[in-house]
Amino acid sequence: MEMLGFVGGTGPQGRGLGLRLAQAGHPVLLGSRDPAKAEEAVAKVHGKDPDVDVRGVSNAEACTAADVVFITIPYGGQAAALEDLADAIGDKIVVNCVNALAFDERGPHPVSVAAGSAAEESQQLLPRARVVGAFQNVSATKLLRPPDPIEADVLICGDDEDARAAVAPLVERIPGLHPVDAGPLRLARPIEELTAVLLAVNKRTGGHSSIRLTGLP
Ligand SMILES: NC(=O)c1ccc[n+]([C@@H]2O[C@H](COP(=O)([O-])OP(=O)(O)OC[C@H]3O[C@@H](n4cnc5c(N)ncnc54)[C@H](OP(=O)(O)O)[C@@H]3O)[C@@H](O)[C@H]2O)c1
Repeated sequence: MEMLGFVGGTGPQGRGLGLRLAQAGHPVLLGSRDPAKAEEAVAKVHGKDPDVDVRGVSNAEACTAADVVFITIPYGGQAAALEDLADAIGDKIVVNCVNALAFDERGPHPVSVAAGSAAEESQQLLPRARVVGAFQNVSATKLLRPPDPIEADVLICGDDEDARAAVAPLVERIPGLHPVDAGPLRLARPIEELTAVLLAVNKRTGGHSSIRLTGLP
């Protein structure tokens, strides 16, 4: 199975996806700017499941060694991080989970991105890579509660059809998640913006909402 590398794999989203995909059989590299933090993240994952193949590395090593690179850092750090990692990523498939959001006293809200979305910005920063937006609406809290299934649809967008098709099986390997091919990367913007709505709903309800489409064949 493909080796999966996570840039910013020490946060809840990187650990959660890393845990679930390692449980599905993928070797996983949790990347960090800080080696000690990467080791702590691995210990947290092994606290959930001691049998998974998960290692802590630098972000650059995660990108170099992985077959597929996940971006799981806050939007504010993305541009600087990806400029440094572009050579290590090269022409690989990049799964961008980043939401271009900010938070103020009224709650979460989308931020304006010149490229359109965090995912499109990452494609501009990584022109050789095949960027796919996915998992932006999936709650890390639920990912970190195996073996509970998540029961959600994952919208996949990207301008490379083969890359979108390659990411769909990764979605399917997490119990309860269902991939939906949403088409071009320009649709990442409403997908990322929708996460602000989900977070606002979560705050009001105490839930961990995701999305599910109806009317599909
Ligand atoms: N949390 C969720 O439920 C959820 C759900 C869907 C999507 N997402 C998206 O996934 C991304 C990660 O979410 P998260 O909650 O895991 O975030 P997080 O905990 O705030 O950050 C994840 C990791 O990113 C690294 N990082 C933080 N600031 C950075 C910077 N300026 N430059 C480079 N690296 C930086 C840190 O790793 P090191 O310090 O170890 O380098 C941190 O542990 C976000 O864009 C979010 O919108 C999150």
